[in-house]
Amino acid sequence: MASLLNLSLLCLAASGPAFASPARLARAESTVTVTQTVEAPSPTSTAWNAGAVTEYPIHSSCNHTERAQIKRGLKEAIILAQHAKDHILRWGNSSELYQKYFGAAPSGEAIGWFDKIVNVDKAGILFRCDNPDGNCANEGWAGHWRGANATDETVICPLSYETRRPLVAMCGLGYTVANSETNIYWASDLVHRLFHVPKIGEGVVEHYADGYEGALELAKTKPEETVRNSETLQYFALEAYAFDIAVPGEGCLGKVDPKPRTSEAPATETPTPTATALQAPSATSDAPKECHTHSDGVVHCD
Ligand SMILES: *[C@@H]1O[C@H](CO)[C@@H](O)[C@H](O)[C@H]1NC(C)=O
Ligand SMILES: *[C@@H]1O[C@H](CO)[C@@H](O)[C@H](O)[C@H]1NC(C)=O
Ligand SMILES: *[C@@H]1O[C@H](CO)[C@@H](O)[C@H](O)[C@H]1NC(C)=O
Repeated sequence: MASLLNLSLLCLAASGPAFASPARLARAESTVTVTQTVEAPSPTSTAWNAGAVTEYPIHSSCNHTERAQIKRGLKEAIILAQHAKDHILRWGNSSELYQKYFGAAPSGEAIGWFDKIVNVDKAGILFRCDNPDGNCANEGWAGHWRGANATDETVICPLSYETRRPLVAMCGLGYTVANSETNIYWASDLVHRLFHVPKIGEGVVEHYADGYEGALELAKTKPEETVRNSETLQYFALEAYAFDIAVPGEGCLGKVDPKPRTSEAPATETPTPTATALQAPSATSDAPKECHTHSDGVVHCD
């Protein structure tokens, strides 16, 4: 302000022998006034995000034990999604892992879906434990999206607490990316469930191809679908975490088992009454088969 005032006085001086008329003085004063307005402190920013919900809500129907496990699982889902995002932001499509799962697809969409898991406003999204639709009674159901009954709600069934593993167990107990189910970890299971919630998946992140080999095939045939294919996003996040974080530089990809992933014998085959027929299906058998209902009412089992 002081320098502008000096400038105005200089202008007056430079205007020659003529007297500084009252009109000129008035102009000089008005210049100073304008400068003062510009230098006034800017108004304090508005609380644009007042009321933001930054943690996933858990329903009162969950007891302390259930709540603690769901809460930890959700934290791990965020850690898994955050690392997947970080990997893509660091390496883009120059990453072999990126190319393997997303082919020629641009990277922005996958980054966006992972970011939504981490940073979306979580108001209205709800995890509950009271089995309101009765679906926890279904054989093998560890949880389900409530679909048309309550589109932002997810039910976690008791089976989850027995079968889901923490992220620190990554690559342990015979897990391999290629042969194990994606829902074996709380983190990846909840990433899947969150993608079903419209506030996150927007009805766009869906099941376009399932299974490890299905996901790899999709990268070659329809790369544009990979970035919104729920299983692709999960496999990518799991392998990135396994390779970059859990067992650095090594991971636990495994080789694709040429046999079908499930150990169920065809219905027509009768078991032979020998000792071997009594053996457990497989030492590394994964979480039970799991089903959930899609927005179109179709029940999908992993
Ligand atoms: C990676 O993305 C660039 C554009 O950013 C594109 O020109 C290039 O073909 C992509 N590479 C692969 C392997 O998809
Ligand atoms: C919605 O509720 C009905 C009846 O309570 C139940 O039969 C159905 O399975 C529920 N839908 C989902 C997706 O859980
Ligand atoms: C919470 O509910 C589970 C069933 O999911 C039960 O096994 C457990 O004992 C309960 N915990 C407490 C502290 O009541």
